Amino acid sequence: MNILVTGGSTGLGKSIVHSLSDIPENKVFFTFNRHEEEAQSIVREKQNIIAIKCDFTNVDEVNDIEKKIPLYDLDVLINNVYVGSAQGKHFHKTESDLFMQSFKNNILPTIRITQSAISGFRAKRFGKIINILTAYLVNLPPIGFSIYTANKAYLKQLSKSWNSEYARYNITSNCISPEFMLTNLSLNLDERVIEQMQSVHPLKKLLTPLEVAESVVYLVKSSQQINGAHIVINAAKNIL
Ligand SMILES: NC(=O)c1ccc[n+]([C@@H]2O[C@H](COP(=O)([O-])OP(=O)(O)OC[C@H]3O[C@@H](n4cnc5c(N)ncnc54)[C@H](OP(=O)(O)O)[C@@H]3O)[C@@H](O)[C@H]2O)c1
Repeated sequence: MNILVTGGSTGLGKSIVHSLSDIPENKVFFTFNRHEEEAQSIVREKQNIIAIKCDFTNVDEVNDIEKKIPLYDLDVLINNVYVGSAQGKHFHKTESDLFMQSFKNNILPTIRITQSAISGFRAKRFGKIINILTAYLVNLPPIGFSIYTANKAYLKQLSKSWNSEYARYNITSNCISPEFMLTNLSLNLDERVIEQMQSVHPLKKLLTPLEVAESVVYLVKSSQQINGAHIVINAAKNIL
């Protein structure tokens, strides 16, 4: 399969790229922005990995990837990028412009990339979209996560429209909502907070990007009957 992972240079995206490229029949394209060196070293590991520079905040680079996607003949799109920090200020202290800016940086590029992918999927009557959300859509979000969780909720709702409009074209859209993982996104967290999270975790250990990547591989390999699923990975701390 030809697969595009957005944000594959670090964290969860990198684990997804690794896991999917272990299957030799797959050709894995991934985007990167700041971590060019990491991206190049991932590419050097295997022949079936291709890195593409795309800064979601740069309209020209988003235009460029939108135009290139038809050439990749994609079967699978994995929407994984998150631009900016997950944690901000209390809702009442957050400037309203920041909601718009984050929407522009996260949702609009994801919409444009997904539209481009869907055009190809419709033509070949096959496609899979996998959206990386957050378990905070189920669990109560921590203080300061209003922009982040609102963006993820928007993407979750878009996924339902993709289900409604494209199931007949044999295109699926599924979501994965992981709980906290140690990645660059969670870098600035106090060690004591991390220890506390570990101690109250039912398994006494934090979720890893590799464990989430396994679920992505499952969805990539699964039947097209699996459509509209939302896999929440939170060790049953909260259930729908
Ligand atoms: N960590 C968690 O606790 C957690 C929990 C649930 C869900 N998630 C989700 O998992 C996904 C991956 O996050 P992560 O935890 O793996 O953090 P991460 O390592 O920081 O990954 C974020 C990715 O987004 C890319 N990115 C950031 N700014 C960008 C920009 N302006 N343009 C294009 N790409 C940009 C980064 O690329 P560069 O590094 O190359 O710039 C990186 O590949 C996100 O959707 C996040 O919401 C994370």
